[in-house]
Amino acid sequence: MTFDTIIKGGSVVTPAGTVEADVGIRGEKIAAIGAGLDANGAKVIDAGGHYVLPGVLDVHVHLALPFCGAVSSDDYLTGTRAGARGGVTTLIDFAIPYAGESLSEAVDNWHKKAEGKALIDYTFHVCITRWDEHKDQIKDMVDRGFPTFKEFMIYESEGWQSDDRAMFGTLEKMREYGAMLLVHAESSRVLDELIARNHTPERMARYGARLHPMTRPNFIEAEAIQRAVTWSEVTGGQLYVVHMSTAEGADIVKAAQARGVPVLAETCVQYLVLDDSVFEGEDGHLFACCPQIKKPKDVERLWRGLRDGEVSVVSTDTCTFTREQKAMWEGDWTKIPMGLPGLETLLPLVYTHGVLEGRLTLEELAMKLSTNPARIMGLAPRKGAVQVGADADLAIIHPTRRLTVDPATMETNADWSPYEGWELAGFSRTTLSRGEVIVDDYRVVGAPGRGQWLPRKTAGLRPAPQAPERVTA
Ligand code: URP
Ligand code: ZN
Ligand code: ZN
Repeated sequence: MTFDTIIKGGSVVTPAGTVEADVGIRGEKIAAIGAGLDANGAKVIDAGGHYVLPGVLDVHVHLALPFCGAVSSDDYLTGTRAGARGGVTTLIDFAIPYAGESLSEAVDNWHKKAEGKALIDYTFHVCITRWDEHKDQIKDMVDRGFPTFKEFMIYESEGWQSDDRAMFGTLEKMREYGAMLLVHAESSRVLDELIARNHTPERMARYGARLHPMTRPNFIEAEAIQRAVTWSEVTGGQLYVVHMSTAEGADIVKAAQARGVPVLAETCVQYLVLDDSVFEGEDGHLFACCPQIKKPKDVERLWRGLRDGEVSVVSTDTCTFTREQKAMWEGDWTKIPMGLPGLETLLPLVYTHGVLEGRLTLEELAMKLSTNPARIMGLAPRKGAVQVGADADLAIIHPTRRLTVDPATMETNADWSPYEGWELAGFSRTTLSRGEVIVDDYRVVGAPGRGQWLPRKTAGLRPAPQAPERVTA
């Protein structure tokens, strides 16, 4: 058997466990995994002393998003380069209809954003923002390869908010079509009330950016998750809770799963490595994201949810705003553009704080960052695992070599990072996308525009498996 490329001598993280093996690539696909593959005529990439991981799928990303009176500053050029450097080989963005637009027009707009710029493969979740207009367009989007939809329970001022009627009706359709609804779960009316009570010159002068966490206590998320779970339970429609940030949310999802409700949950890496003390510093406003960063007890509960299985996926919710954009708040926390940069540091953070700190095994990391996202989002078996027949999307990382997070040397357009100065292992030394090296020696070498849109089928959507048996010493 001959190969175009062989990854030689690495520890390869496969769904069956981690093995010392070579990976043989022919064209865009993994053609063989085994010891001593014949390298004759093949380009050889030395992976000795390294882990060979499946490329990461970041299934919650916003690039060039008009939001909070600004446009998020990582677009498909910088965002996908940042992803590649962090070992991300597939991303899923959210196509959001502008005023008066159909779902189809939203998708067309997002295709234009990506064309000629994307370095890695991508697709979109389709956002339903006006139920009465959009409900009859859902089936057509499923047929066009978009089986995942999104509704926001907040963001009335952006024109994105969905009510219970929309969620209930969408989940009925999800069941009918075998599709899935992603929900941003926060309780809008009570949130509005808490914001109004605090929106006084005195309280803003006194508390500044701390009003962001103060007006979003955990029950704001928990009540909304509970309600969405109820609609999933009574309709049988598949629900996926995005960016879950609370211990209470994890408890609700776990209990619902135990009684057979078709609900899955993701958390984002910022909810695993930061806590709400970030709002106390002079730069506290930079950390405003939605939902906001919670308490240490939530952090620990979410790590446990990853281990026990109720949290299936870790993503980033990348929505980058520069210091200048964040400065628009001028002391009013309701005006801070909300979101954080994230694509470049997802794998390094989960590897360093998860695997190296003993919270996750390497196999669990691959499951939460690659295998589960691919399966849940309808991209398996093409994406998400190092296995014969899959796309040769790989991230080769050194087990211990650390790099310092420094925005000046990063690919993201952000001029700051929530993790600035952190020493992280797990940056990708070599990233391959469909067999092509796009990151070499930690530097991006791939060309913009080579990334492809990925059509998806509902048949690929299925609940994630539980985490594998943990081996304790
Ligand atoms: O702060 C965030 N998360 N910005 C992006 C929009 C959203 O809610 O996902
Ligand atoms: Zn959201
Ligand atoms: Zn988001």
